[in-house]
Amino acid sequence: MFCNMLLQTHNPYRPAVIEWPKLDREALARVTGLPIWDIAVQTEGRASARVAAFAQTARDALLREALTMDGAEEARHKVVLSRLVEAYGIALAPEPEYGAPTDTEWGWLVTGYSECIDSFFAFGLFEVARRSGYFPLELVETFEPVIQEEARHILFFVNWAAWYRSNLPWWRKPWFAIKELAVWTFLVWERIGIARGIDSKGAAQDANFTMNGTAAVGVELSAGQMIELCLEENARRMSGYDRRLLRPQLVPRVARLARRWLR
Ligand SMILES: [Fe+2]
Ligand SMILES: [Fe+2]
Repeated sequence: MFCNMLLQTHNPYRPAVIEWPKLDREALARVTGLPIWDIAVQTEGRASARVAAFAQTARDALLREALTMDGAEEARHKVVLSRLVEAYGIALAPEPEYGAPTDTEWGWLVTGYSECIDSFFAFGLFEVARRSGYFPLELVETFEPVIQEEARHILFFVNWAAWYRSNLPWWRKPWFAIKELAVWTFLVWERIGIARGIDSKGAAQDANFTMNGTAAVGVELSAGQMIELCLEENARRMSGYDRRLLRPQLVPRVARLARRWLR
């Protein structure tokens, strides 16, 4: 069911035919000044390599087909970003090699759970950008299919994880639980590093985006309002799919807790 969801809701847009709107000087400065382009291009590059590697290991044909599509969509995100970068003359840092991970399952879990965290905030930030009018609406709408694709990916991922977990023999379940916990620990640690302006290898990075992101898209929102918006958008983006599929729960739950605490 989760494989069919992904396969049947694929959006066949082609990055090559996207017409990038002409921007006036101010809008161009805002777009090129966003501190996200390096990290965005590299995240998509790494994600597509990891998902494609994991797809090769899937023995079930339907699962392999869905995973292959998931990886191809990540590669397409990278193409969309590369075209944008090219169209607006944004300078990028040199890209690292995206070698396949030695443990392909680890790579897949890291990608899946990091998308669960990052997409949740991206949903809110995207809506802020859309409402603010700070960027031309035409440009914002170009990314609508990309954002909805990430929603499909995390929906697919959490259902895969539940399916995989429940099909493991009992003696392998504890090991998988430890592995998932290790992935979450790694991701939280990585995000603390990003928030401090340092990536996991110690190189200076350009992010700290969700925290300063609302200012970068031209709106001042309190942290509580931002979380509220992320929760609303998350619910909206997940609402169109078969209700029998599981929804990502952990990040929205933590966000609800944080919102209560912020009050
Ligand atoms: Fe992506
Ligand atoms: Fe994705």
